[in-house]
Amino acid sequence: MGIEGFGHVPVLVEEVMTFLRCEPGCTYVDATLGGGGHASEILKRTAPDGIVIGIEWDEEALSYARNTLMPFGDRIKIFRENFVHLPDFVGTESADGILLDLGLSSIQVEKAERGFSFREEGPLDMRMDQRSNRTAADLINRLSSEELEYTLTHYGEERWAKKIAKAIVQERERDPIRTTQRLRKIVHRAIPGRFHSRRIDPATRTFQAFRIRLNEELDNLGKILETGWKVLKRGGRICIISFHSLEDRMVKETFRRLDKQGEMRILTKKPVVPSEEEQRRNPRSRSAKLRCAERV
Ligand SMILES: C[S@@+](CC[C@H](N)C(=O)[O-])C[C@H]1O[C@@H](n2cnc3c(N)ncnc32)[C@H](O)[C@@H]1O
Repeated sequence: MGIEGFGHVPVLVEEVMTFLRCEPGCTYVDATLGGGGHASEILKRTAPDGIVIGIEWDEEALSYARNTLMPFGDRIKIFRENFVHLPDFVGTESADGILLDLGLSSIQVEKAERGFSFREEGPLDMRMDQRSNRTAADLINRLSSEELEYTLTHYGEERWAKKIAKAIVQERERDPIRTTQRLRKIVHRAIPGRFHSRRIDPATRTFQAFRIRLNEELDNLGKILETGWKVLKRGGRICIISFHSLEDRMVKETFRRLDKQGEMRILTKKPVVPSEEEQRRNPRSRSAKLRCAERV
């Protein structure tokens, strides 16, 4: 299976491999396994005995990854977990590298019934971990107007948060909001037409905000940033790919603090971004930013 199998094209592969210095005999943690694209590349480069510990909480992505990674036998160890629990099952100072490739995989976005995409009709689900029993529809129909506004501002950096929150509350009084297209239309109507961008759909930030809040993405990133690096051996490296400024800022600030404290050494003064060629080949890579640090 090629690394571009199953519709998810991994980003910044060469750059990540260079920073991780993949070598046989070493152990790497892929904390966001997704479809297994990056992991299979690490496993190829660490043959015959490199180990990858793969973590993923989405059952659907996991079944793709299991398939893709089958040829590597017991060199890949897979856990269905939230990556915040990483230090509970990977010992302190035992890994040579960690990769976090944040956000969604195409496996999730492309399935209308998962509710992540505003382009297609689907239920407002947006759970990455299907074991959770709260969906985006629960947030959208139950949060107070103030909480909706906070969510849109804080997780979506949406300047029309107040108007959208009001519109959601008005609409759900008529009938609960259950589908992606209904939410999209509500947002489109709430933002004055002259402020609709031609480049990005006006509903982009709203969908991002509910997805981030529902899956507690920033809290999870905060927790792994605090504790995850401790599983690295001295000289081990952590690579983090983020897809929006909220995440990138958190990574940048934590790396700076750990660098000052003498725990980590920053290897990327500025974030590494995909080449023009990669951006052309894989439009999803356009917003990717890679930061890397080494345990001292
Ligand atoms: C961009 S994709 C990773 C793609 C992967 N690098 C590849 O090459 O196929 C991000 C993945 O991280 C998973 N994920 C996000 N937050 C997670 C968390 N807190 N714990 C475990 N997995 C998480 C998502 O479900 C998604 O499958």
